[in-house]
Amino acid sequence: MESLPERRGPSLTWIRNPSEKLLVAKAEGWNGMVSIRLEIPEDAEQIRDLLRACFPGYAEADLVEALRRDGDIVLSLVAEEKDTVLGCIVFSRLTVTGDEATFPAVALAPLAVYAEYQQQGVATRLVREAHACLAAMDERLCIVLGEPTYYGRFGYSNRRASGFTSDYQSPYLLALSFGAAPWDGRLDYPPAFRLLDGDDAPLQADHRV
Ligand SMILES: CC(C)(COP(=O)(O)OP(=O)(O)OC[C@H]1O[C@@H](n2cnc3c(N)ncnc32)[C@H](O)[C@@H]1OP(=O)(O)O)[C@@H](O)C(=O)NCCC(=O)NCCS
Repeated sequence: MESLPERRGPSLTWIRNPSEKLLVAKAEGWNGMVSIRLEIPEDAEQIRDLLRACFPGYAEADLVEALRRDGDIVLSLVAEEKDTVLGCIVFSRLTVTGDEATFPAVALAPLAVYAEYQQQGVATRLVREAHACLAAMDERLCIVLGEPTYYGRFGYSNRRASGFTSDYQSPYLLALSFGAAPWDGRLDYPPAFRLLDGDDAPLQADHRV
């Protein structure tokens, strides 16, 4: 039997099955109370509450709902404790348009953890678990507009992103690749990002983590 793509995260092993659906094969080696899992439809309201609490205004909460409605979410994970969502991370489809071809990449936004659960490594686990999952899905390029000192610890760099054309090109535009992926081209974000042009829009060139 053909072996399946498999990637290990901090506490889960992500396997892509032949129908392209993701399966979490193992959830061992983590004894803490906070678990990480794929978002399910019932999480939507708790995710909205989380994003309202972690960011000023409605922009991030509206963004995630619009991405979900448009079918542009590639991966969404939640951290939960006792059926309560306390953190989330969302990756949506972003296209790199070059002179001759387009390349499917993903945009990381948003990442959030309730204040009372911060500084305990929850976001770190969400990011690392998501990267393992994305690699198992054969995603190769992640883009984020964030704080280099924070995202740098996961391998994101402005150097990797500096060749892309984007309205958000700045020292805070960061990229991470898992494999062969373009170094230049235009970054086309999903339409949901264009709906958000207010002062509290999540993507601004001076945006921090
Ligand atoms: C950013 C955030 C997700 C981190 O969550 P967390 O679970 O506390 O993160 P971790 O425990 O894994 O990591 C904590 C580390 O992140 C660092 N960090 C947190 N916010 C930071 C920021 N804005 N800039 C730089 N570093 C930051 C902390 O200093 C800490 O560093 P240390 O490990 O050297 O002590 C959380 O603070 C949050 O939800 N903030 C509000 C929403 C937000 O800004 N999201 C990111 C933009 S989409």
